[in-house]
Amino acid sequence: MGKRFYIETVGCQMNELDSELVMAALIEAGYEYVPRRQDADIILFNTCSVRQHAEDKIYSALGRLKHIKEQKPGKIIGVLGCMAQKDQSLILKRAPHVDLVVGPGQVARLPQILEDLAERGGPVVEVSLDRRGTSQQRVRASFLAPDRKERPFLRTTPHQAFVRIMFGCDKFCTYCIVPRVRGPEQSRSPWEILDEVRQLAEHGCVEVTLLGQTVNSYQWKEAGRSMRLSDLLSRVHEVEGIRRVKFVTNYPCDMTPDLLQAVRDLPKVCPYFHVPAQSGSNRILQRMKRGYTVEEYREILAAIRETVPGASVTSDFIVGFCGESEEDFEATVRLVEDARFKNSFIFKYSPRPGTKADELWPDDVPEEVKRRRNNELLAIQNRIGEEENRRFVGRQVEVLVEGPSKAGGKRPASDGVIQMTGRTVCDRIVVFPGSPTLTGQFVQVTIEDVSPVTLFGHLAGLQGAVS
Ligand code: SAH
Ligand code: SF4
Ligand code: F3S
Repeated sequence: MGKRFYIETVGCQMNELDSELVMAALIEAGYEYVPRRQDADIILFNTCSVRQHAEDKIYSALGRLKHIKEQKPGKIIGVLGCMAQKDQSLILKRAPHVDLVVGPGQVARLPQILEDLAERGGPVVEVSLDRRGTSQQRVRASFLAPDRKERPFLRTTPHQAFVRIMFGCDKFCTYCIVPRVRGPEQSRSPWEILDEVRQLAEHGCVEVTLLGQTVNSYQWKEAGRSMRLSDLLSRVHEVEGIRRVKFVTNYPCDMTPDLLQAVRDLPKVCPYFHVPAQSGSNRILQRMKRGYTVEEYREILAAIRETVPGASVTSDFIVGFCGESEEDFEATVRLVEDARFKNSFIFKYSPRPGTKADELWPDDVPEEVKRRRNNELLAIQNRIGEEENRRFVGRQVEVLVEGPSKAGGKRPASDGVIQMTGRTVCDRIVVFPGSPTLTGQFVQVTIEDVSPVTLFGHLAGLQGAVS
């Protein structure tokens, strides 16, 4: 078996982190990463099941690989992550040329799994236990995967890192497949998390983003004491070398005062809250089993704004959920108008087999209505995003530079100046002319123009030199 591997990732930050861990584990085991699929002996897809569209994309990519596998049977094709956990051996039925199906709880063992495959042949299906099957303890264990331990420097973004603080989700929102594919909610030991953050900092990481599907539900009990996200943030804040700490995603019901106060009092913790509302209609929120009313959500927003003035808040919305009427949608519009989110991710409802919503209610909002509501909400959010961004024009902001801007990078580079991108402390994307050598550094940028989700500017004090 050849040793060159390629990995393609879709889905959320959990998947991005998992792919990074897979890459590190494979490189450590002697495999070589190649950035082009056609150069690889092992082709891996790290998949997402949150919407049908994400799955369709992977199945059609797998379909296109069929003739390649026929021509070169030695090539290994692997499906990793959430869709592997959800569809399991069904993947082999739909795409018999797949060699590996590996769930999120097993991806860390990929080097071993590849070795076994070479020895014993395939296909191999390695997934976690069904949540409703065996004992809770065994199910929980099967979803745990060891996170980064050694080699914290084997990363594509040396200055920034995701750090998992929780596995799984127990909220079971009726539309959502995540609790099934990521398993039960389990917090990681704070000591393990802190060790990881320290290691990352020692290797030059300046920004960590703590990850959990409901990151603010974090809880660790030890010796009669309980540790929450606010306590963990105080500890991470003490780690030398770390300059920014973020955390995503928040569950509205667990947005407690101690967390808001921690963000207010800890200067390294970014005043940025991703708190998905999903809908502005109480009838729909109840159907979604989100656990709050829109009035309660508005109170949470008010508390954030009062405790952390200037904080940016972002949200997710689902339009066209089962039974969503025009009135329900109007209630969502009102929430978006009033809340003035920095930005919102808006999704058309996609029924997921295996969820309560799919079992109980028909997907009765026609596709064109979903599309219209999506566009309408997006237009309102874009207008608000741009208005909020406009307040930055003429101001100087501190930016952690992430690298060349994808859109700007296509422009011809004259005298070494290219469009760079980075983020402000409140997670606003900033694009400015600069040089790739600035990656990982904090720079001051004066903002001169904006779009709904981007600030454009120039390096403060360097105007003329780079424009
Ligand atoms: N744990 C996070 C994110 C989960 S998935 C949270 O609780 O917010 C990311 C987003 O995908 C969700 O916030 C939701 O807006 C969207 N989503 C989840 N299931 C969906 C479905 N079946 N159809 C459309 N969008 C969905
Ligand atoms: Fe899905 Fe709800 Fe859990 Fe988020 S909180 S992952 S939307 S079940
Ligand atoms: Fe998708 Fe899995 Fe994340 S289903 S959204 S990749 S947890």
